[in-house]
Amino acid sequence: MLNLVEEIRQLKKQTNATILAHYYQDGEIQELADFTGDSLKLARAATQVKTETIVFCGVHFMAETAKMLNPEKRVLLPDLKAGCSLAESCPAPKLHRYQEMLRENGRQFQTVTYINSTAAVKALSDWVVTSGNAEEIIRRVPAGQEILFVPDRHLGQYLEEVTGRKMILWDGACMVHEIFSVGDLLALKKKLPTSITIAHPECPANIREHSDFVGGTEAMLKFVGNYAEPKDFLVATEANMLWQLQSKFPRHRYHPVPGITCACNKCPHMALNTLEKLRDCLIHGTPEIAWQPEFARAREVLQRSLLN
Ligand code: 13P
Ligand code: SF4
Repeated sequence: MLNLVEEIRQLKKQTNATILAHYYQDGEIQELADFTGDSLKLARAATQVKTETIVFCGVHFMAETAKMLNPEKRVLLPDLKAGCSLAESCPAPKLHRYQEMLRENGRQFQTVTYINSTAAVKALSDWVVTSGNAEEIIRRVPAGQEILFVPDRHLGQYLEEVTGRKMILWDGACMVHEIFSVGDLLALKKKLPTSITIAHPECPANIREHSDFVGGTEAMLKFVGNYAEPKDFLVATEANMLWQLQSKFPRHRYHPVPGITCACNKCPHMALNTLEKLRDCLIHGTPEIAWQPEFARAREVLQRSLLN
């Protein structure tokens, strides 16, 4: 009998599928993927896929983004329930009511939305950003307009700090990045005094202020790669990122910053995608992301924001 990994490799060939995997997937899934990346890199990679089928190993909003950018392709997600606490924190009807209230109060604003959001929310937005291009897009918003930034308040605060632009912030957060323990981080720094701390901008200010580098997932890789000599890195982001760091730059040592309630820091949504579900999805051609009416408007915003 074939082992699971070999079975997936063969099915991938037989079904002519391309596997895209986010850096927050288990290492064994990343190893099987044709492309790995952060949200921005994967959204862009999805537009370059030649095969008719894309299997997106990530969470729902990422697979939805791939579908919006490739309406003619079949986009599969191993587990349709793989959601995101940030996307859940901003329901489209609530955002719509809030925007209406701001307009009724005469506020002139543009809505800048983190890609971790539903298609319906993207359709209500002027721009969609990822951790990789947010700064650049914020600088494109005309100075005369206010910015409503949704849904991540920590990323929003960080962007306020680096761009100097005050924004109206939605009250959402990532359940993984929000719970790093500052006490444990300080203890680790004491134990490893020459270590370098890197943090994702979805982390709250109390973690960011103790970090040597704050940047999106791809920027973190680049930062670490610039160190030629072996170093100790304290990593404040989803734990599977350590697999990607380790495989790209094995000369360094990586230490996860523990969370307050659990030391693993794994995203439970990403973890819903397993090798078994990946195999089953290649066999059955489901679950598939179905085209929704709001995708058309969201697609325009995505193309303007990510591909230009
Ligand atoms: P990036 O991949 O854009 O860094 O986002 C991190 C994240 O939390 C994805 O869900
Ligand atoms: Fe959402 Fe956070 Fe999981 Fe990313 S890590 S999918 S932002 S809950």
